[in-house]
Parts: sequence; C-alpha cells; structure tokens
Amino acid sequence: MAEISIQVNGRQQKHEAEPRTHLGDFIREKSRLTGTNLSCEHGVCGACTVLVDGRPVRSCITFAGACDGHEVTTVEGYNDDPIMSRLRTAFSEKHALQCGFCTPGMLATSRDIVLRLPDADEARVRIELSGNICRCTGYQGITAAILSVLQALRDQPDAQIEALRAAVVQDVQQDWTQNGFTTFEAVQEEVQAPAPVAAAPAASGSADKGKGQAIQGGFEARFPADQVWAFMKDLPKVAGCLPGAIIESQEGATVQGKIAIKFGPMSAAFKGNATLEEDNDRRAAVLRGEGVDSLSQSRARGDVSYQVLPDGDDRSRVEVELVYSLQGPLAQFSRSGLVQDFVRRMIAEFGKNVNLRLEKPLAEGEEPVVAEFNPVKMFFSILWDRFKGLFRRS
Ligand code: FES
Ligand code: FES
Repeated sequence: MAEISIQVNGRQQKHEAEPRTHLGDFIREKSRLTGTNLSCEHGVCGACTVLVDGRPVRSCITFAGACDGHEVTTVEGYNDDPIMSRLRTAFSEKHALQCGFCTPGMLATSRDIVLRLPDADEARVRIELSGNICRCTGYQGITAAILSVLQALRDQPDAQIEALRAAVVQDVQQDWTQNGFTTFEAVQEEVQAPAPVAAAPAASGSADKGKGQAIQGGFEARFPADQVWAFMKDLPKVAGCLPGAIIESQEGATVQGKIAIKFGPMSAAFKGNATLEEDNDRRAAVLRGEGVDSLSQSRARGDVSYQVLPDGDDRSRVEVELVYSLQGPLAQFSRSGLVQDFVRRMIAEFGKNVNLRLEKPLAEGEEPVVAEFNPVKMFFSILWDRFKGLFRRS
C-alpha cells in the first residue's frame, strides 16, 4: 500500500491505496465521490472522464499514484466553473441527457471542447466527442448543447472564459511541441492532400515523428548484412513475414493488401496499400502504409523504417522504427503502453520469420510457412510481464 495525496475538488484527499488502484476507484471508494461513473474500465467509453490539472483524463486507465500531488476535478466540483455552468444549462435545454450515466464524462469532454475550440463546427464537435459513448441520446442533443454554448460565447465573449482559453492554448501548444504531437488540422490537411510523390528514405533512417507515435525495436539476424538486405528489400517477402499480413496485388514498389490485428479487446483488419522506398547504399528502407479498418472505420497510417547493420561477417542486426497514427474509434488505443509492447513483440515475431525464411528460402510456387503466431498467448504474456514489473517497482 502507498499513501496517495490528491486534491479532489479543492480538498486534499490523503488515503492509503494499492499501487494498482486506478483514479476512478480512488475517487469513488476513497473520496466517496460517486458522481464519476465507471463502465468499460479499459478506456473505451469515456464515462469515467474527469479533469486532472484541468485536462480531461480517463480515470479508469490512470493510476491514482500517478496523480499524487495533482488536482482532480469531478462532476461534483464544477460549481464555480463558468463554462460548466453554461454547459449544464445547455444540456438541460437541449435534452442532452436521458439516463445520465455518460453525462459526467460528457460534461468534462464538452468543457474541453468549449475551451480549446471556440470555432468548432458540428462535424468537429462530433469528432471530439467520439471518445465518449452515450447509449441513450443519439448525440444530437449533446452536440446541439455544445454548439449553443460555443455560439453564445462567439456572440458575447466572456472575459473569464477568454482568460481560461488563453491559458489552455499556451499549455496545450507547449505540451504538443514537447511530445511531437500533430494537430488535428495538420492531419486533416494531410489526409485531404493528393498523395505525395515518394521521397527517398531520410538520411538517418528514421521517419518523421511529427506524424504520430514512434516505437523502436529490432532483431538479430543469423546471416550476413548483404544477404539480409537482399531479403529485406523484397516487398512480398517482407510483407510475408509480418504476422497477419496478406498481399493481394503488387505494382512496382507498391502493394495492396490487408493486415489483421487481434490483441486483447482490440481487433481490426486494415485494408490499404504500402510502398517501399529503399536506399541500397545504407541498406535502409521505409515501408509507408495506410489503411482503413472496415468494422470501426478507423484509419491507420504507418512508416516502418529499417536498416540492416553488419554485426561481424556472419551476422547482422536490423534496427526498426515504426511511426504510426490512428484516427477514429481505435485511436484511443494508440498511446497505450500495452499497444507499444505489442508492437515491439510484433517486430520480434517479424524477426523470427525473417530468420526462418532466410534459413529455408521458399521454392518456386511454395506457400509461405511462417513461425506460429499466437496473439492470445502474446496478450497474456505482455500482461504477465507488466504484472511482474508492478511488483518489481513496488
Ligand atoms: S470506464 Fe473509463 S473509459 Fe469506460
Ligand atoms: S444519457 Fe444515458 S448513456 Fe448517455
């Protein structure tokens, strides 16, 4: 047990809690503030959203210990908030709630929209709300309520709210610069822009981190660098080593196909295309891909950069970096540590398959046989490792 001290709604709350206690349980069970609702408890529904230091956070996937020394605001603590007072009235007028289960989380997210996006239109409001699920209202009333608050503030600006907005703009910009996040507008422009002419791989062999989350990994190959490079620039062979990937057609350096991903609660099948750009001098390449999951309509983009480095005469090491972005319902998973562990292990699986193929090259017309991949086993193995890590830390 550890002593955790959090300022909840302006009052210091100091309680003993286990390191694994999430903020939602801390608020409900230790602080006895039951206005925050828990539903999915894995970051999907948004019902548990509260403000931590003024920013919306899913309390079910935030450790209480990580909030030690910080300020948390729950639905019980918005009485003096000028934006929330307008939102509450608007929610009531526009019939933005029915059973009310989602409402504490909806209000926290709505406040964030009003703060950050004074000019948001209906489409943007709906996108911003996509991380909060309501089973009753159909979202019409919620969207109308937020739009009415935004319009009222445009018609008649409020000095107190303008000051809050100015502070948040500065805060968010600083955070985004530090973390290399891409703005919504930049991503939207990129999506709408005509496909760029493929550029040569960057000299450093790493992709532009401004495009999304970056994960590094790598694997050892039991073969000389030139042999591994000859394999790694052959697109169908590379794709054939990616667990769950299927190539449907190829034209030059571009392939069409799909990749199926199953990991715990997340399951998706992205269909799209990928292009390989190679740099023979450096034995480096970038595989640029994008696709859409037909079920969730989530869109994924990713650049896999890799470079084959000699390790003595007979062996080599392949350094891999994945820079990816997810849009749509699956975006909520994109930064989770579990997903990052998953990608690193996928890279290791990929390495196993590359070694296997180099050891036993396919005969003409032979169907590829890759090392067996078990996503369920991998999911539980990652969870187990994290569980053990928890005890090591405590
Ligand atoms: S309960 Fe936290 S997101 Fe669903
Ligand atoms: S009002 Fe019932 S879940 Fe949203």
